[in-house]
Amino acid sequence: MLPDHVNIVEVGPRDGLQNETSEIRLKHKVELIDRLSASGLRHIEAGSFVSAKWVPQMADSAEVLAKIKRHPDVIYSALTPNTRGLEAALAAKTDCVAVFAAASEGFSQKNINCSIEQSIDRFIPVIEQAHASNIPVRAYVSCVIACPYDGPTDAQQVADVADRLRELGCYEISLGDTIGVGTPENIKTMISAVAQHVPVEQLAIHCHDTYGQAIANIYAALQCGVSTVDSSVAGLGGCPYAQGASGNVATEDVLYLLQGLGIETGIDLGEIIEAGNFISGRLDRPNQSKVALALKT
Ligand code: HMG
Ligand code: MG
Repeated sequence: MLPDHVNIVEVGPRDGLQNETSEIRLKHKVELIDRLSASGLRHIEAGSFVSAKWVPQMADSAEVLAKIKRHPDVIYSALTPNTRGLEAALAAKTDCVAVFAAASEGFSQKNINCSIEQSIDRFIPVIEQAHASNIPVRAYVSCVIACPYDGPTDAQQVADVADRLRELGCYEISLGDTIGVGTPENIKTMISAVAQHVPVEQLAIHCHDTYGQAIANIYAALQCGVSTVDSSVAGLGGCPYAQGASGNVATEDVLYLLQGLGIETGIDLGEIIEAGNFISGRLDRPNQSKVALALKT
């Protein structure tokens, strides 16, 4: 059974832009988010409060959050790897924060410089302090299918990490195929293992499109009952700590899939295409969304 309604979490301004090495002007980041805010999206990941040495492109997240025009129906969230990040996110009036763990030790070390266990220990005060300020906490689990350093990931390991994060109070666990190697059957196997521990209503799917499987994998996740999908306008993205990881699935392509399935999102595809064309132009590259290319006027 497919869901009637799907929530899109637009991660382009964070997952999309974090990997860009050239300077992106603050006003262009702000304009991107303002355009996305007008499209009917309800959740936009606007930035990241991480070390500027590790991810320089996100160093101006506080300024971005200060300058955007906040739409009352949109949740603006940001990544917070530790309490320092949380404090900065709270000062920037972030509506929701996200902690990010991995299902593989190799990626955990390369991405956040600690083991999975240590990362969860670090998240405990982040989650407690966020909740004390009435800020909901989302969680990511990366490398749910395979890791660029450790190889294939055991679905049970994904389930264990997701369950720990749920127990700590994260309202939603986003399952990341960080390097985009999954195919529909192993996505289903992984989701079934996780859903033994975490209700499927609390799961999101986060696909990178490295091998062109993201839309097929999202369809598989919908068939498992997942109704929250992370995507990135114009297919921007990649992870600096996952060599070869291409962009996230394009929001435009997900919307086209959902329209074809008769699933509601409340989002205007035309507005998303305009926003994607805007940022692609600023980055001086073609829009990576097939749907945006097909509907080019
Ligand atoms: P560390 O080196 O282990 O920690 O980094 P540290 O506490 O020793 O701090 C190192 C430096 O960072 C220090 O500065 C700290 O002050 C500073 P220095 O003394 O060297 O000048 N620092 C901070 N600065 C700003 N904000 C902070 C902060 N914390 C420390 N919050 C740390 C640990 C986690 C900070 C580091 O590893 C880091 O920032 N990593 C970035 C990871 C990242 O952003 N990766 C990309 C996002 S994850 C992703 O894309 C996957 C996802 O999309 C899902 C999927 O696709 O699978 C979510
Ligand atoms: Mg990602």
